[in-house]
Amino acid sequence: MNRPERTDHPDVILCPDGPMLLRGDHVVQDEDGQQHRTSRPVSAVCRCGGSMIPPWCDGTHKVLSQHCRR
Ligand code: FES
Repeated sequence: MNRPERTDHPDVILCPDGPMLLRGDHVVQDEDGQQHRTSRPVSAVCRCGGSMIPPWCDGTHKVLSQHCRR
């Protein structure tokens, strides 16, 4: 199996205990099948399920991770 080529600018970055960052234009389909287009340079997709503006991250994961550490 070939190793993936390392790059300083990956298209997708998984943040520990946080969102998935997407670089460039993407269409994200949510769990209801609704599609959301983004053309921002970098977009953050919620992975914790706590965002009030899904599918986008609103920072709620920080509160949730602090709560879980107690
Ligand atoms: S990952 Fe940030 S609000 Fe869910």
